[in-house]
Amino acid sequence: MGYKITVDGSDNEFSCDDRDTLLRAALRQGVTIPYECNSGGCGSCKFELVSGEVEDLWPDAPALTPRDKRKGKKLACQCRPVSDAVIKVRLEDHAAPEIRPNRFKVRYLGRRDLTADMAEFRFQSDAPARFLPGQFAMLSLPGIQGDRAYSMSNIPNEAGYWQFIIKRMPEGNASTWLFSELKEGDVLELDAPYGQAYLRPEIERDVVCIAGGSGLSPVMSIVRAATGDSRFADRKIYLFYGGRTPGDICTPELLSEIEPLDAQLICETAISDADAATRESWEGPCCFVHELVEQTLGDRMPEFEYYFCGPAPMTEAVQRMLMIEHKVPFEQIHFDRFF
Ligand code: FES
Repeated sequence: MGYKITVDGSDNEFSCDDRDTLLRAALRQGVTIPYECNSGGCGSCKFELVSGEVEDLWPDAPALTPRDKRKGKKLACQCRPVSDAVIKVRLEDHAAPEIRPNRFKVRYLGRRDLTADMAEFRFQSDAPARFLPGQFAMLSLPGIQGDRAYSMSNIPNEAGYWQFIIKRMPEGNASTWLFSELKEGDVLELDAPYGQAYLRPEIERDVVCIAGGSGLSPVMSIVRAATGDSRFADRKIYLFYGGRTPGDICTPELLSEIEPLDAQLICETAISDADAATRESWEGPCCFVHELVEQTLGDRMPEFEYYFCGPAPMTEAVQRMLMIEHKVPFEQIHFDRFF
């Protein structure tokens, strides 16, 4: 049971209970409100309220500009209904979920540390873990306001395993809680899958994955899936990973567990912030990860299918390099904006 939400000017309606946001309820029922971050950062899910009432969970979400607020725009990922409502929003077919999101209880199994501030966390649900490589889940943490989006780093599986590479953020209360309070056996609520930057095996191009920081999580899911999929036989899969210092580079350990089928896996890493002493101990390139991609692929850049994730300056630099400087068609570029 829930409130009835009608999309103005269309035949679409869906029900939304007071625990769900308009966006998540719509996607669960196949109503294609566009979105990327599900977290108030990108602005893709803006709508106007025609009638009824909603509760705004984050009125100061960064995706809403002062102009949006003056015009009464709201974010479907940050609003819950408190009555039946009519909303005005542009529906888009590309937002149709391949797998409709659902809520699960997951039990925490433990984590392995990958660097001084990044670890891979492992959970298990009773139901199979159904998602597409590259997608993310919303985790609800006790005592922390608002769910947090974390991308899966493993591949879909019947046993119900969900893995996430998470970075401890000095100011982040969610990551601090996960690193210091979460105990083995604790049960959390997970809502998944979301996101559109997922692996498209049917596209017959070599694959380029680019990551920085915990953006490695969805990219590892894509690399793990592609290297185990016979449809990628004879294709090249590049993984470019950038860290600040040599201590951030954890790809050798992760990749040592992968046994590629016939696909060729090529991993290139760089560090961006090396002082003179570090440069002596690091034999690889010292540059930003987008520069590493450019140095490696050069004029061949328009030939590949791209998947990337990382901090805002990195994803913006990658986007600019691909689309503006190297004229890579937008359809060949897959990323979810979280900012
Ligand atoms: Fe709502 Fe990004 S999906 S702001």
